[in-house]
Amino acid sequence: MRYRTLLIGSAVLAVTAAAVLLYWRDRLVLARPLLTINFDHHDHGAVKCATCHHNFFDKTGRDSCYFCHKIRPELARTIERDFHTFCRDCHTKMRDAGFKSGPVRRCAQCHGEALWTAGLPP
Ligand code: HEC
Ligand code: HEC
Ligand code: HEC
Ligand code: HEC
Repeated sequence: MRYRTLLIGSAVLAVTAAAVLLYWRDRLVLARPLLTINFDHHDHGAVKCATCHHNFFDKTGRDSCYFCHKIRPELARTIERDFHTFCRDCHTKMRDAGFKSGPVRRCAQCHGEALWTAGLPP
């Protein structure tokens, strides 16, 4: 009987701890500042505007990608993953096909010096 109580007790504790951790992680992810990005349209002249500016289709025009993705919490939660996939996947495909491409791994090639001030790896 006591064993069972202990078991239920630890299960409740584990779930609570996980919920608290997720909550804090979410808060930190939403609060962290945008990092600077080295992006030059001249490097991307061969790509159609709408391939990247998907908002040409939803009629919101040419507003800043990062800003829009940062002020909406549902987008900000996945901004890191979404943009890394978006930028790197194309670079990886181009590289593997033997063409010139942009950065695929090194943080500073896309984020520049800001990484050091943000305490992230170069
Ligand atoms: C490879 C992806 C890509 C392509 C192709 C591309 N853009 Fe962009 N564009 C971006 C990114 C990334 C930004 C940076 C957005 C930011 O600063 O938030 C940007 C920013 C802009 C901005 C400034 C928006 C703002 O308010 O800060 C304009 C205007 C723009 N692009 C127009 C165009 C046009 C017109 C074309 C086609 C000739 C084009 N872009 C092609 C990715 C692309
Ligand atoms: C006005 C707001 C707004 C702007 C500006 C905007 N986006 Fe988005 N973006 C969204 C929304 C909303 C979604 C989710 C749409 C969906 O799930 O169908 C999205 C989805 C995406 C996704 C797909 C994420 C996934 O689910 O895999 C990528 C990548 C992306 N945007 C990149 C960009 C880039 C690059 C730019 C600028 C060139 C840009 N966005 C500009 C609002 C915006
Ligand atoms: C649809 C394909 C595509 C997408 C999406 C794309 N790129 Fe690129 N990018 C390229 C290609 C191709 C080049 C190489 C152009 C060249 O050197 O002629 C390049 C070059 C670059 C370079 C220059 C590298 C150098 O050595 O000078 C940077 C930086 C870069 N991309 C950043 C980005 C970022 C940041 C994003 C996402 C916001 C992005 N790219 C999205 C195709 C893409
Ligand atoms: C191909 C370009 C590219 C590379 C390489 C890259 N990033 Fe990013 N990263 C981006 C873009 C674009 C964004 C979304 C715009 C922004 O946050 O300024 C982003 C967003 C992020 C964010 C989220 C910032 C926020 O606003 O919440 C973090 C954290 C991050 N990157 C860390 C890294 C680290 C660490 C590395 C190396 C392991 C790395 N990035 C490599 C392009 C890149």
